Amino acid sequence: MDTTWIEISKKSIQHNVKTIRSLINKNTLLAPCVKSNAYGHGMREMAKLLIPHKVNMLCVASIEEALVLRESGISIPLLIMGFVPHARLGDILDSRASIFVCEPQTARTLSRLALAARTTVNVHIKVDTGMGRQGLMPRQLNAFIKFIQSLKGLRWEGIATHFASADEPEHPQHFYDQLKIFTHLVKGIKKDRQGFPLIHCANSAATFLEPQSHFDMVRPGLAVYGYYPNDATKKTCLAQGMPLHPSLALKTKIAAVKKIPKDACVSYGCTFITKHHTRIAVLPVGYYDGIDRALSNRGHVLIRGHRAPILGRVCMNITVVDVTRLPHITQKDEAVIIGTQGREEITIEEMARHIGTINYEVTTRLRENIRHIYL
Ligand SMILES: Cc1ncc(COP(=O)(O)O)c(C=O)c1O
Repeated sequence: MDTTWIEISKKSIQHNVKTIRSLINKNTLLAPCVKSNAYGHGMREMAKLLIPHKVNMLCVASIEEALVLRESGISIPLLIMGFVPHARLGDILDSRASIFVCEPQTARTLSRLALAARTTVNVHIKVDTGMGRQGLMPRQLNAFIKFIQSLKGLRWEGIATHFASADEPEHPQHFYDQLKIFTHLVKGIKKDRQGFPLIHCANSAATFLEPQSHFDMVRPGLAVYGYYPNDATKKTCLAQGMPLHPSLALKTKIAAVKKIPKDACVSYGCTFITKHHTRIAVLPVGYYDGIDRALSNRGHVLIRGHRAPILGRVCMNITVVDVTRLPHITQKDEAVIIGTQGREEITIEEMARHIGTINYEVTTRLRENIRHIYL
Protein backbone atom coordinates (compact mmCIF):
# COMPACT_ATOMS: atom_id res chain seq x y z
CA MET A 1 0.00 0.00 0.00
CA ASP A 2 1.52 3.33 -1.08
CA THR A 3 1.59 6.10 1.48
CA THR A 4 1.49 8.77 -1.23
CA TRP A 5 -0.32 8.62 -4.52
CA ILE A 6 -1.58 10.70 -7.44
CA GLU A 7 -5.17 10.41 -8.59
CA ILE A 8 -5.96 11.31 -12.18
CA SER A 9 -9.58 11.88 -13.13
CA LYS A 10 -10.24 10.25 -16.51
CA LYS A 11 -13.51 12.18 -16.71
CA SER A 12 -11.67 15.49 -16.40
CA ILE A 13 -9.21 14.54 -19.14
CA GLN A 14 -12.09 13.49 -21.39
CA HIS A 15 -13.88 16.76 -20.68
CA ASN A 16 -10.78 18.81 -21.48
CA VAL A 17 -10.11 16.99 -24.75
CA LYS A 18 -13.76 17.41 -25.73
CA THR A 19 -13.54 21.13 -24.93
CA ILE A 20 -10.42 21.52 -27.08
CA ARG A 21 -12.03 19.49 -29.89
CA SER A 22 -15.07 21.74 -29.80
CA LEU A 23 -12.85 24.78 -30.44
CA ILE A 24 -11.11 23.50 -33.53
CA ASN A 25 -12.30 22.78 -37.01
CA LYS A 26 -13.51 19.26 -37.81
CA ASN A 27 -10.56 18.75 -40.13
CA THR A 28 -7.93 20.22 -37.83
CA LEU A 29 -5.74 17.53 -36.35
CA LEU A 30 -5.33 17.27 -32.59
CA ALA A 31 -1.84 16.42 -31.32
CA PRO A 32 -1.75 16.61 -27.50
CA CYS A 33 1.62 16.89 -25.79
CA VAL A 34 2.32 13.89 -23.57
CA LYS A 35 5.97 14.83 -23.15
CA SER A 36 7.62 15.07 -19.74
CA ASN A 37 5.58 12.23 -18.29
CA ALA A 38 2.44 13.90 -19.66
CA TYR A 39 3.18 16.97 -17.53
CA GLY A 40 3.37 14.68 -14.48
CA HIS A 41 0.16 12.78 -15.28
CA GLY A 42 1.81 9.54 -16.49
CA MET A 43 2.81 9.35 -20.17
CA ARG A 44 1.82 5.79 -21.10
CA GLU A 45 -1.53 5.86 -19.38
CA MET A 46 -2.36 9.33 -20.70
CA ALA A 47 -1.49 8.24 -24.23
CA LYS A 48 -3.81 5.24 -23.90
CA LEU A 49 -6.54 7.42 -22.43
CA LEU A 50 -6.27 10.07 -25.14
CA ILE A 51 -6.12 7.88 -28.23
CA PRO A 52 -9.83 6.90 -28.27
CA HIS A 53 -10.76 10.60 -28.16
CA LYS A 54 -10.14 11.58 -31.77
CA VAL A 55 -6.49 12.31 -31.19
CA ASN A 56 -4.43 12.22 -34.38
CA MET A 57 -0.86 12.40 -33.13
CA LEU A 58 0.98 12.60 -29.81
CA CYS A 59 3.83 15.01 -29.15
CA VAL A 60 6.83 13.90 -27.11
CA ALA A 61 10.10 15.59 -26.25
CA SER A 62 12.66 12.86 -26.83
CA ILE A 63 13.50 9.64 -28.63
CA GLU A 64 13.40 7.88 -25.25
CA GLU A 65 9.78 8.93 -24.75
CA ALA A 66 8.86 7.84 -28.29
CA LEU A 67 10.38 4.41 -27.73
CA VAL A 68 8.61 3.99 -24.37
CA LEU A 69 5.28 4.66 -26.08
CA ARG A 70 6.05 2.21 -28.89
CA GLU A 71 7.10 -0.46 -26.38
CA SER A 72 3.75 0.10 -24.66
CA GLY A 73 2.00 -0.84 -27.88
CA ILE A 74 1.02 2.69 -28.92
CA SER A 75 0.99 2.83 -32.69
CA ILE A 76 -0.50 6.23 -33.56
CA PRO A 77 1.78 8.88 -35.12
CA LEU A 78 4.28 10.47 -32.74
CA LEU A 79 6.11 13.75 -33.16
CA ILE A 80 9.42 14.25 -31.37
CA MET A 81 9.69 17.99 -30.70
CA GLY A 82 12.90 18.10 -28.68
CA PHE A 83 16.57 17.58 -29.36
CA VAL A 84 17.69 14.14 -30.52
CA PRO A 85 21.44 13.53 -30.23
CA HIS A 86 23.14 12.56 -33.45
CA ALA A 87 24.06 9.15 -32.09
CA ARG A 88 20.36 8.37 -31.47
CA LEU A 89 19.06 9.31 -34.93
CA GLY A 90 19.07 5.64 -35.95
CA ASP A 91 16.44 5.00 -33.28
CA ILE A 92 14.09 7.39 -35.04
CA LEU A 93 13.60 4.67 -37.64
CA ASP A 94 12.72 2.09 -34.98
CA SER A 95 10.32 4.49 -33.30
CA ARG A 96 8.59 5.34 -36.60
CA ALA A 97 8.20 8.81 -35.07
CA SER A 98 8.22 12.08 -36.95
CA ILE A 99 10.84 14.59 -35.91
CA PHE A 100 11.44 18.34 -35.92
CA VAL A 101 14.44 19.24 -38.08
CA CYS A 102 16.09 22.61 -38.44
CA GLU A 103 19.66 21.97 -39.45
CA PRO A 104 21.23 20.23 -42.48
CA GLN A 105 23.41 17.72 -40.65
CA THR A 106 20.45 16.01 -38.93
CA ALA A 107 18.49 15.94 -42.19
CA ARG A 108 21.44 14.44 -44.09
CA THR A 109 22.03 11.73 -41.49
CA LEU A 110 18.33 10.84 -41.34
CA SER A 111 18.23 10.61 -45.13
CA ARG A 112 21.28 8.32 -45.19
CA LEU A 113 19.85 6.07 -42.44
CA ALA A 114 16.44 5.91 -44.11
CA LEU A 115 17.92 4.99 -47.47
CA ALA A 116 20.06 2.26 -45.92
CA ALA A 117 16.99 0.81 -44.19
CA ARG A 118 14.83 1.28 -47.32
CA THR A 119 12.32 3.36 -45.45
CA THR A 120 11.32 7.00 -45.04
CA VAL A 121 11.49 9.35 -42.08
CA ASN A 122 8.80 12.00 -41.60
CA VAL A 123 10.23 15.40 -40.85
CA HIS A 124 8.64 18.66 -39.69
CA ILE A 125 10.64 21.79 -40.43
CA LYS A 126 10.83 23.96 -37.31
CA VAL A 127 11.06 27.72 -37.81
CA ASP A 128 12.07 30.19 -35.11
CA THR A 129 9.63 33.08 -35.52
CA GLY A 130 10.56 34.72 -32.23
CA MET A 131 11.08 32.08 -29.57
CA GLY A 132 14.86 32.38 -29.85
CA ARG A 133 15.33 28.70 -29.19
CA GLN A 134 15.03 25.77 -31.57
CA GLY A 135 14.42 26.32 -35.27
CA LEU A 136 15.88 27.88 -38.37
CA MET A 137 15.54 31.58 -39.00
CA PRO A 138 12.77 32.68 -41.40
CA ARG A 139 15.26 33.90 -44.01
CA GLN A 140 16.73 30.37 -44.21
CA LEU A 141 13.40 28.68 -44.82
CA ASN A 142 13.14 28.60 -48.63
CA ALA A 143 16.61 27.15 -49.09
CA PHE A 144 16.01 24.60 -46.33
CA ILE A 145 12.73 23.45 -47.87
CA LYS A 146 14.51 22.85 -51.19
CA PHE A 147 17.26 21.00 -49.37
CA ILE A 148 14.78 18.73 -47.52
CA GLN A 149 12.92 18.04 -50.74
CA SER A 150 16.17 17.08 -52.45
CA LEU A 151 17.03 14.42 -49.86
CA LYS A 152 15.84 10.92 -50.59
CA GLY A 153 14.39 8.96 -47.70
CA LEU A 154 12.78 12.00 -46.10
CA ARG A 155 9.11 12.87 -46.31
CA TRP A 156 8.26 16.50 -45.63
CA GLU A 157 5.32 15.98 -43.27
CA GLY A 158 5.05 19.32 -41.52
CA ILE A 159 6.19 22.86 -40.85
CA ALA A 160 5.93 24.36 -37.39
CA THR A 161 6.80 27.15 -35.02
CA HIS A 162 6.35 27.67 -31.28
CA PHE A 163 5.12 30.73 -29.39
CA ALA A 164 7.20 32.44 -26.74
CA SER A 165 4.48 34.15 -24.75
CA ALA A 166 1.97 31.48 -23.79
CA ASP A 167 2.33 32.20 -20.08
CA GLU A 168 3.11 35.89 -20.50
CA PRO A 169 -0.23 37.61 -21.06
CA GLU A 170 1.48 40.99 -20.59
CA HIS A 171 3.08 40.58 -24.01
CA PRO A 172 0.25 39.74 -26.44
CA GLN A 173 1.93 41.72 -29.20
CA HIS A 174 4.84 39.30 -29.42
CA PHE A 175 2.42 36.42 -29.95
CA TYR A 176 0.70 38.28 -32.80
CA ASP A 177 4.05 39.23 -34.31
CA GLN A 178 5.11 35.58 -34.35
CA LEU A 179 1.78 34.50 -35.81
CA LYS A 180 2.09 37.12 -38.54
CA ILE A 181 5.59 35.98 -39.48
CA PHE A 182 4.55 32.32 -39.55
CA THR A 183 1.37 33.02 -41.53
CA HIS A 184 3.45 34.89 -44.09
CA LEU A 185 6.06 32.12 -44.30
CA VAL A 186 3.56 29.33 -44.90
CA LYS A 187 1.43 31.25 -47.40
CA GLY A 188 3.27 30.09 -50.48
CA ILE A 189 3.74 26.47 -49.42
CA LYS A 190 2.31 23.95 -51.85
CA LYS A 191 0.74 20.88 -50.30
CA ASP A 192 0.59 17.41 -51.79
CA ARG A 193 -2.68 15.60 -52.50
CA GLN A 194 -2.92 14.26 -48.96
CA GLY A 195 -2.54 17.75 -47.49
CA PHE A 196 1.13 17.56 -46.45
CA PRO A 197 3.09 19.34 -45.15
CA LEU A 198 0.92 19.97 -42.11
CA ILE A 199 1.15 23.54 -40.85
CA HIS A 200 1.06 23.86 -37.06
CA CYS A 201 1.99 26.19 -34.24
CA ALA A 202 -0.79 26.37 -31.62
CA ASN A 203 -0.08 25.45 -28.01
CA SER A 204 -2.88 25.61 -25.40
CA ALA A 205 -3.03 29.40 -25.17
CA ALA A 206 -3.08 29.87 -28.94
CA THR A 207 -5.67 27.10 -29.38
CA PHE A 208 -8.05 28.91 -27.01
CA LEU A 209 -7.29 32.51 -27.83
CA GLU A 210 -6.64 32.64 -31.57
CA PRO A 211 -8.40 30.41 -34.12
CA GLN A 212 -6.16 31.88 -36.85
CA SER A 213 -3.31 29.95 -35.26
CA HIS A 214 -4.94 26.53 -35.68
CA PHE A 215 -3.90 25.88 -39.31
CA ASP A 216 -3.85 22.08 -39.90
CA MET A 217 -3.04 20.85 -36.39
CA VAL A 218 -2.92 22.07 -32.77
CA ARG A 219 -0.43 20.88 -30.11
CA PRO A 220 -1.98 21.67 -26.70
CA GLY A 221 -0.31 20.37 -23.57
CA LEU A 222 -1.32 22.04 -20.32
CA ALA A 223 -5.01 22.49 -21.21
CA VAL A 224 -5.43 18.75 -21.82
CA TYR A 225 -4.66 18.20 -18.15
CA GLY A 226 -7.10 20.89 -17.05
CA TYR A 227 -4.98 23.96 -16.34
CA TYR A 228 -4.88 27.40 -17.93
CA PRO A 229 -1.58 28.70 -19.31
CA ASN A 230 -2.53 32.26 -18.35
CA ASP A 231 -5.38 34.42 -17.03
CA ALA A 232 -6.45 35.45 -20.53
CA THR A 233 -7.08 31.80 -21.44
CA LYS A 234 -8.95 31.28 -18.18
CA LYS A 235 -11.16 34.33 -18.80
CA THR A 236 -11.91 33.20 -22.36
CA CYS A 237 -12.81 29.68 -21.27
CA LEU A 238 -15.03 30.86 -18.44
CA ALA A 239 -16.70 33.54 -20.56
CA GLN A 240 -17.55 30.91 -23.15
CA GLY A 241 -18.88 28.54 -20.48
CA MET A 242 -16.03 26.12 -21.18
CA PRO A 243 -14.12 25.67 -17.95
CA LEU A 244 -11.28 23.20 -17.95
CA HIS A 245 -11.31 20.55 -15.26
CA PRO A 246 -8.09 20.00 -13.27
CA SER A 247 -7.36 16.29 -13.45
CA LEU A 248 -4.67 15.67 -10.83
CA ALA A 249 -4.82 15.22 -7.07
CA LEU A 250 -1.84 14.44 -4.85
CA LYS A 251 -2.64 12.65 -1.61
CA THR A 252 -0.83 11.05 1.27
CA LYS A 253 -1.60 9.19 4.49
CA ILE A 254 -0.65 10.85 7.76
CA ALA A 255 2.38 9.04 9.24
CA ALA A 256 2.09 10.28 12.83
CA VAL A 257 0.14 12.71 14.99
CA LYS A 258 1.63 14.13 18.18
CA LYS A 259 1.60 16.99 20.65
CA ILE A 260 4.59 19.23 21.15
CA PRO A 261 4.98 21.91 23.85
CA LYS A 262 5.22 25.69 23.57
CA ASP A 263 8.60 27.01 22.34
CA ALA A 264 9.41 23.77 20.48
CA CYS A 265 11.39 23.79 17.25
CA VAL A 266 9.74 22.28 14.18
CA SER A 267 11.94 20.82 11.42
CA TYR A 268 15.39 21.79 10.06
CA GLY A 269 16.77 25.17 10.97
CA CYS A 270 14.07 25.76 13.62
CA THR A 271 12.39 28.25 11.31
CA PHE A 272 9.15 27.61 13.20
CA ILE A 273 8.93 27.77 16.99
CA THR A 274 5.58 26.91 18.58
CA LYS A 275 3.79 29.72 20.39
CA HIS A 276 1.62 27.30 22.38
CA HIS A 277 1.00 23.59 22.82
CA THR A 278 0.66 22.37 19.26
CA ARG A 279 -0.68 19.22 17.68
CA ILE A 280 1.24 18.27 14.58
CA ALA A 281 0.68 15.74 11.82
CA VAL A 282 3.76 14.31 10.17
CA LEU A 283 3.30 13.64 6.45
CA PRO A 284 5.54 11.18 4.58
CA VAL A 285 6.18 13.53 1.64
CA GLY A 286 8.81 16.13 0.94
CA TYR A 287 10.75 17.91 -1.74
CA TYR A 288 11.89 14.58 -3.19
CA ASP A 289 8.25 14.01 -4.10
CA GLY A 290 7.87 17.48 -5.65
CA ILE A 291 6.64 19.42 -2.60
CA ASP A 292 8.83 22.44 -3.14
CA ARG A 293 10.88 23.64 -0.18
CA ALA A 294 9.57 27.15 -0.82
CA LEU A 295 6.27 25.93 0.67
CA SER A 296 8.02 25.85 4.09
CA ASN A 297 5.97 27.91 6.60
CA ARG A 298 3.72 28.95 3.71
CA GLY A 299 1.69 26.22 2.06
CA HIS A 300 -1.26 24.24 3.35
CA VAL A 301 -2.65 20.74 2.99
CA LEU A 302 -6.25 19.65 3.42
CA ILE A 303 -7.27 17.26 6.17
CA ARG A 304 -10.93 16.43 6.75
CA GLY A 305 -11.82 19.34 4.51
CA HIS A 306 -9.83 21.91 6.54
CA ARG A 307 -6.64 23.76 5.74
CA ALA A 308 -3.67 22.68 7.84
CA PRO A 309 -0.68 25.04 7.56
CA ILE A 310 2.78 23.68 6.83
CA LEU A 311 5.06 24.29 9.82
CA GLY A 312 8.80 24.77 9.45
CA ARG A 313 10.86 23.55 6.54
CA VAL A 314 9.66 20.98 4.06
CA CYS A 315 12.22 18.15 4.33
CA MET A 316 13.35 15.68 1.70
CA ASN A 317 10.77 13.03 2.68
CA ILE A 318 8.74 14.63 5.48
CA THR A 319 6.47 17.64 5.91
CA VAL A 320 4.92 18.75 9.21
CA VAL A 321 1.51 20.43 9.40
CA ASP A 322 -0.42 22.08 12.23
CA VAL A 323 -3.57 20.18 13.21
CA THR A 324 -4.16 21.84 16.60
CA ARG A 325 -7.56 23.03 15.36
CA LEU A 326 -8.47 19.52 14.16
CA PRO A 327 -8.52 17.52 17.41
CA HIS A 328 -10.12 14.40 15.96
CA ILE A 329 -7.69 13.54 13.21
CA THR A 330 -5.65 10.38 13.48
CA GLN A 331 -3.00 8.47 11.62
CA LYS A 332 -5.77 6.99 9.51
CA ASP A 333 -6.59 10.31 7.88
CA GLU A 334 -5.64 11.34 4.38
CA ALA A 335 -3.99 14.64 3.58
CA VAL A 336 -4.66 16.28 0.23
CA ILE A 337 -1.64 18.19 -0.97
CA ILE A 338 -3.13 19.13 -4.34
CA GLY A 339 -6.83 18.79 -5.03
CA THR A 340 -10.18 19.17 -3.30
CA GLN A 341 -11.53 17.85 -0.04
CA GLY A 342 -14.97 18.90 1.17
CA ARG A 343 -15.38 22.51 0.15
CA GLU A 344 -11.72 23.35 0.20
CA GLU A 345 -9.29 23.17 -2.69
CA ILE A 346 -5.55 23.52 -3.06
CA THR A 347 -4.88 24.28 -6.67
CA ILE A 348 -1.69 23.82 -8.60
CA GLU A 349 -1.83 27.55 -9.23
CA GLU A 350 -1.92 28.31 -5.48
CA MET A 351 1.15 26.13 -5.04
CA ALA A 352 2.88 27.78 -7.97
CA ARG A 353 2.21 31.24 -6.48
CA HIS A 354 3.80 30.27 -3.17
CA ILE A 355 6.82 28.83 -4.91
CA GLY A 356 7.18 31.68 -7.39
CA THR A 357 6.78 29.54 -10.48
CA ILE A 358 4.17 28.46 -13.04
CA ASN A 359 1.63 25.63 -12.90
CA TYR A 360 3.61 23.74 -15.59
CA GLU A 361 6.54 23.35 -13.24
CA VAL A 362 4.47 22.16 -10.27
CA THR A 363 3.02 19.14 -12.07
CA THR A 364 6.14 18.18 -14.00
CA ARG A 365 8.20 18.27 -10.80
CA LEU A 366 6.12 15.59 -9.08
CA ARG A 367 8.23 12.50 -8.53
CA GLU A 368 7.68 10.32 -11.56
CA ASN A 369 7.34 7.03 -9.71
CA ILE A 370 4.64 8.13 -7.29
CA ARG A 371 1.84 5.64 -7.98
CA HIS A 372 -0.74 7.10 -10.37
CA ILE A 373 -4.30 5.89 -9.99
CA TYR A 374 -6.68 6.56 -12.89
CA LEU A 375 -10.25 6.94 -11.66
C1 LIG B 1 7.00 22.80 -29.22
C2 LIG B 1 5.87 22.77 -28.24
N1 LIG B 1 4.61 22.69 -28.69
C3 LIG B 1 3.56 22.67 -27.86
C4 LIG B 1 3.73 22.75 -26.49
C5 LIG B 1 2.52 22.74 -25.58
O1 LIG B 1 2.42 23.93 -24.84
P1 LIG B 1 1.27 24.13 -23.76
O2 LIG B 1 1.52 23.15 -22.68
O3 LIG B 1 1.43 25.54 -23.32
O4 LIG B 1 -0.01 23.88 -24.45
C6 LIG B 1 5.03 22.83 -25.98
C7 LIG B 1 5.23 22.92 -24.53
O5 LIG B 1 6.24 23.14 -23.96
C8 LIG B 1 6.13 22.83 -26.88
O6 LIG B 1 7.39 22.91 -26.43
